[in-house]
Amino acid sequence: QPVKNKEIKSRNRYLLVNKTGLYIDNNFVGTITLLNDVTEKREHEEKMKHASTLSVMGELAAATAHEIKNPLTTIQGFIQFFMQQPAKKVCEVNSHLELLLDEIERINKIITDFLKLARPEQPKLAHINTEKLLKNTLQLFEKEATYRNLNLQWKQEENLPEIYGDPDQIKQVLLNLIQNAFQACSSGGQIKFTADSANNSLIVNVEDDGIGISDDVQRKLFQPFFTTKEMGTGLGLPISQRIIEEHGGEIKVDRSSLGGARFTIKLPFHNNNTIKER
Ligand SMILES: Nc1ncnc2c1ncn2[C@@H]1O[C@H](COP(=O)(O)OP(=O)(O)O)[C@@H](O)[C@H]1O
Ligand SMILES: [Mg+2]
Repeated sequence: QPVKNKEIKSRNRYLLVNKTGLYIDNNFVGTITLLNDVTEKREHEEKMKHASTLSVMGELAAATAHEIKNPLTTIQGFIQFFMQQPAKKVCEVNSHLELLLDEIERINKIITDFLKLARPEQPKLAHINTEKLLKNTLQLFEKEATYRNLNLQWKQEENLPEIYGDPDQIKQVLLNLIQNAFQACSSGGQIKFTADSANNSLIVNVEDDGIGISDDVQRKLFQPFFTTKEMGTGLGLPISQRIIEEHGGEIKVDRSSLGGARFTIKLPFHNNNTIKER
């Protein structure tokens, strides 16, 4: 049997093996085996992989620290201000304390989201009833839609197959996308949610008639900490992208015929082998 480019590890060396039979006048006379030592190449690749993970983590950590500094400075300033004041009436101080709590909550959210990205949990895989998951998620937004006078349309194909994946993580992606759509719309706005199946995959579209996305924003959308919102963390989309890709799917964005943005996720129904081990 000929062997082509088979890699073996022997005594800490990586060897590429090529083996072929040697025939003279159709008679087998022996085999030729070529061994190619690729140890250095492999070790270099491993090092690069490790280095790039480390540098991505380093960048993320630096950006998080930067994001947290602003609210911390606010909190520090307020506390110093209080300390310099003569004893104040309780209610006056209280209103400032609320502001401080908001800032602390913001720090909390940044750190929680950061950890989801930097040290994601191992997916807890299950067979998911797709229609139920979509319905449960959308129902969470009905009240807010009424309250903010937004028209939330939702259309889904009947009898959608099950998905094999982590239900909490997929729900998290849907929440992120719908939340973004809500935040992009003003009163009277429209949000459309559709779910269909195509090529053994679930296709979900979340579109809105909101502010839309400029080319410049579109290029940076999936970068951690990119946000155009005063209270945004810029982690929703990068987290969503990581989750969808770990499920063997894709997420992309383009313009909606409604006038705003359209996010599309494609999630394979059967992907038992594609969920990556970490
Ligand atoms: N539906 C949308 N319409 C317009 N812009 C959007 C939409 N969704 C996302 N974006 C843009 O992408 C940015 C990043 O989104 P995201 O990662 O969810 O972070 P955040 O919502 O905290 O800003 C947003 O700040 C916004 O500029
Ligand atoms: Mg968001």
